[in-house]
Amino acid sequence: MKLDHLGIAVESLNQALEFYEKLGLKCSHTEEIATDQVKVGFLGLENSVNIELLEATGPQSPIAKFIARRGPGIHHICLQVSNLALTLAALKAAGVRLIDQEPRPGAHGKLVAFVHPSSVGGVLLELTQAGVKSSP
Ligand code: CO
Repeated sequence: MKLDHLGIAVESLNQALEFYEKLGLKCSHTEEIATDQVKVGFLGLENSVNIELLEATGPQSPIAKFIARRGPGIHHICLQVSNLALTLAALKAAGVRLIDQEPRPGAHGKLVAFVHPSSVGGVLLELTQAGVKSSP
């Protein structure tokens, strides 16, 4: 298992990218995920965990709600598992509170599922499956 990326909630993706570009980091991929009302930008780091910047595109976006409650900042961590469906089943059986009961498409078309912070010591946990794209 490996840490896939850190998710950071930002007010403005463009402004955040401007900052990271000053450090010499380039945005490797941007994408709008309509179902989540977010626009994301990925900063690719060499041999390391990626950084995902998330900007809300609507008032019902989880990112808009997060920023309203807690301000911008670290939003979630994402772990890559080998079999997401099996991992979710095991967590469910263990009584862990899941936000997504089943894998669903996330950024890059990868399958993802979120685990509720109340079961993860206050951390929103995203799980993703290595290399598997969801059907379109
Ligand atoms: Co993420």
